[in-house]
Amino acid sequence: MTMTKDDALLATMLSRRSISPRRQAWPGPSAAQLRQMVQAALRAPDHGRKLPWRLIEFDDSRRAELAQLFEDEKRRRTPDAGAQDIERARAHATQTPAMLAFVVRPVPDGKVPEHEQWLSAGAALGNLLLAAHAMGFGAIVLSGDRCKDEILRRSLGIAPEETLAGFVSIGTMASPPPPVVPVDVERVLSTWTP
Ligand SMILES: Cc1cc2nc3c(=O)[nH]c(=O)nc-3n(C[C@H](O)[C@H](O)[C@H](O)COP(=O)(O)O)c2cc1C
Repeated sequence: MTMTKDDALLATMLSRRSISPRRQAWPGPSAAQLRQMVQAALRAPDHGRKLPWRLIEFDDSRRAELAQLFEDEKRRRTPDAGAQDIERARAHATQTPAMLAFVVRPVPDGKVPEHEQWLSAGAALGNLLLAAHAMGFGAIVLSGDRCKDEILRRSLGIAPEETLAGFVSIGTMASPPPPVVPVDVERVLSTWTP
């Protein structure tokens, strides 16, 4: 049986996994590939076209500075952090070929409530990760306590009304992730009975 385009799309969607930074390696996406991923994110449903999210890319020349910011934040949060903790914090900034911050910025609007804008942002993030997977890359979003750190937020240019939702890492999958734990559809799908 030949696979149709739709079958292939569905298979891609059903096989998406998050790939942790330590399972990622070079090369990462080219600038053009990254732009395509962002275009896929921009195709997420967005009530009122509010664009309630944005991405900050950290290019190679900025990674050392980002690692220092992550280290500084770790030391603020955990003053007795050991060398290994510090190394882990720094590695998050440097160990993958592409690194972006995902920022949610709901726009005050009488018609489109904030929760709908959050849903749009989540859908955009999902599309971004799915596009990365469809293009053969491994990707993951990770947040953690550092996302709430005021000094880090300010250093990244995040405004008070914005939320730093997490950091997206994208690269070539170097080793496969553990098997998926399947979830029964019935946990989320029910039939209405009045
Ligand atoms: C906004 C956001 C932030 C996340 N932050 C973390 C995190 O800090 N640590 C973590 O272990 N997983 C985090 N996750 C979950 C992982 O990205 C991933 O979805 C999870 O490990 C499940 O893997 P899967 O996507 O392959 O099902 C986050 C997910 C989202 C959507």
